[in-house]
Amino acid sequence: MERDRPIRTRPFVGVSEAAGRRLGDEEVAALARVIHSGQLNSTIGSETRTLEEEFADYYGIGHAVASSSGTAALHLAVAAVDPDPGDEIITTALSDAGTVLPILAQNAVPVFADVDPDSGNLCVGSVRAAITERTRAIIAVHLFGQPAPVAELRELADRHGLVLIEDCAQAYLTECAVGDARRWAGTVGHLGCFSLQQSKHITAGDGGLTISDDPELTRRARLFADKAWPRDTDERTHLFLGLNYRMTELQAAVARVQLTKLAAVVADRRRLAEPLDTVLDSLPGLTSGLRRGAAYWLYPVFVDAETVGADAREFAAALAAEGIPANGGYIQRPLYLTPLFTAPNTYGTSGYPLTARPVTPGASAQRYARGLCPTTEALIDGRLLVLAWNENYSPADIDDIADAVRSVHRRFAS
Ligand SMILES: Cc1ncc(COP(=O)(O)O)c(C=O)c1O
Repeated sequence: MERDRPIRTRPFVGVSEAAGRRLGDEEVAALARVIHSGQLNSTIGSETRTLEEEFADYYGIGHAVASSSGTAALHLAVAAVDPDPGDEIITTALSDAGTVLPILAQNAVPVFADVDPDSGNLCVGSVRAAITERTRAIIAVHLFGQPAPVAELRELADRHGLVLIEDCAQAYLTECAVGDARRWAGTVGHLGCFSLQQSKHITAGDGGLTISDDPELTRRARLFADKAWPRDTDERTHLFLGLNYRMTELQAAVARVQLTKLAAVVADRRRLAEPLDTVLDSLPGLTSGLRRGAAYWLYPVFVDAETVGADAREFAAALAAEGIPANGGYIQRPLYLTPLFTAPNTYGTSGYPLTARPVTPGASAQRYARGLCPTTEALIDGRLLVLAWNENYSPADIDDIADAVRSVHRRFAS
């Protein structure tokens, strides 16, 4: 039966407004403390260095290096690997551009492996098949906070002498199975990278953190973020090509408070997901994203169009018409189909390093064209639906989402 009113008429809280964030007087006090100190720069003040210590302790890891964004955190990691121009780094095309931009910025070549249809995370077999003599690293994204198969990828990386970088921008406190144990995403690979951008589990507006147990990788990452200026010596010199990716004391002060709220944010996102998981289990053709250990940055749903009678984009549009924030595909196209790769638009008119391939025997020459990663494309085109998710949703919000999902499912089935 057609209704004349959508199921939900009130807007949901979201990450772009105060009601959808856990920012309060504690963050204001931290900012005031920094401003009154007159020390806003991390080479002078102590907030950023303290945040690094606190974050490393929180994650039970040797080192953390703060930077200005999640993209910067990944750039630090890639720079720590120190690829030669034309070396290859294997990653996914189903992610934010921040995953691949640092590869190109270091004049290395992104090689795209395909993803698993049930999670959208890298498929280990596809990564294995993409390894060449020029491969230096793998960047695995824990998409939407679902655990990527990093234990298997770490084994693969170790066998081939590669560095595994975990992109945890969407994955705070995501739990990964490593044998019989469970480890947090970011601690299984050689380096883990986090974002403090506005929409993430915790935020300082922008900001990034790179963690590692490896002192050498950490030293390079830290130097890269600060013009490769070794401030622990008396020399004013520059040891290699680095940039200024320093976090400010203002960001660090906010991030330190946010870190104390992280466990509750993730726990609330998980708790709120439980009833929706149950509803989805009862609806043929809809599957919720892998649940064990997920951090629910967004809530992914995989849609089997044949069973449901609609693909993810149609289902998302119907949910949106019911007042539920939903998006089909997550991104509009795989990263390799953006003009950055197809033109390619990199450095002037050179197209470097993409046009320089293969520079040596053993390098791959991937064509950045439709068909490169069929599962990635199928997910974006019609199998992947994402629901906005928030730690401040109420049980009534979840009821509305569940009602709308059930109602839209029923309508397409009939
Ligand atoms: C998976 C992933 N990687 C990297 C980034 C880049 O982070 P930032 O926006 O903080 O630069 C993002 C941001 O959305 C992301 O979701």
